[in-house]
Amino acid sequence: METFRVKSEKFTYPVVTGKESWRLFRDVPQGRYSSIFVVTERSLWRRWSKRFIEESGLRTAPALFVPSGEPSKSLQMLERLGGELLRKGADRRSCLVLFGGGVVGDLGAFLASVYMRGVDCIHVPTTLLAQVDSAVGGKTAVNLGEMKNLIGTFYPGRMVLSDPRVLSTLRWRDFRSGLYEVVKHAILDGRSLFKLLETSTHTLRPGAADALESIVARAVKVKVDIVNRDEREANERMTLNLGHTFGHALEEATDYSRFVHGEAVAWGLLAAARLGRRLGLLPATDSDQICALVRRLGPLPSIQDLPPAKILRLLPQDKKAVGGTIRWVIPEKIGKVRVVTGVPRCEVLAAFREIQAMK
Ligand code: GLY
Repeated sequence: METFRVKSEKFTYPVVTGKESWRLFRDVPQGRYSSIFVVTERSLWRRWSKRFIEESGLRTAPALFVPSGEPSKSLQMLERLGGELLRKGADRRSCLVLFGGGVVGDLGAFLASVYMRGVDCIHVPTTLLAQVDSAVGGKTAVNLGEMKNLIGTFYPGRMVLSDPRVLSTLRWRDFRSGLYEVVKHAILDGRSLFKLLETSTHTLRPGAADALESIVARAVKVKVDIVNRDEREANERMTLNLGHTFGHALEEATDYSRFVHGEAVAWGLLAAARLGRRLGLLPATDSDQICALVRRLGPLPSIQDLPPAKILRLLPQDKKAVGGTIRWVIPEKIGKVRVVTGVPRCEVLAAFREIQAMK
């Protein structure tokens, strides 16, 4: 088990990774909360609640169920859950345990941040993507229509408990979706995590808790270090957007129905690697290495039918754009990225065509 500390504006909180990390829930002082509620998905809770309750020592925790899938990240769902909490007697000293993936974590933490002007929450992420990324760093959000994560707050949980054993029931696609975010962290971090991924691709699978334990810890450390330097995304945290500029455009162009998030990010990583090379910022060897690792992790839904002009039109809508100027996160080598503006449209178009032509 490993513990990483995140220094947030108001308090410092632990992110604990590793088998049996749910037991750390027992460190929550008895009597701190008047009541504890679990926000989760029904099938997930059915599968894991017994073990979670046993290990965490949680005695009574009524569950609030959220339908799985992105449409649950909505203001309507927030209203529904807020009403349910009130009817069930949640007050200002209640705590929400967010037991699930990115949807439960983002929505539940947003709910925690606004219910009675803020109650505590504890993240128990159950997908690889949530363990290495979305549950760490305090971003909360719901979507507004087509715009993902448009409404949200910075509101960290009191702790994050990530046990790799819960990943064993992930669908392969969702598992790979998280792996692409790990690749992103490896590109930001340096050669050693990147190499570890290159050499362990064949052993990485949802049930490989031992192999995953160290990968999750390494990836979490990358994120924790960045968040500790720039919690509010004034500068460096923006680099976590690597692969997301194209990624978000691809998701939007396909009505969020073709890709799971990490798959769209994977195409975005390929595009960023090709763009970096085209701009003369990234050596060809590093660009090829990034592309090879992403491709080796598994098949991606096709992008061949997507009109490049449509994708390019959607790029400036990326949330990180300021005044319509896209801020590209471009790798300069494995272990170093740069935020670049003013990238010529023709280069962006050419990079997209290059990834469309990839076999
Ligand atoms: N997922 C990007 C961030 O937390 O900043």
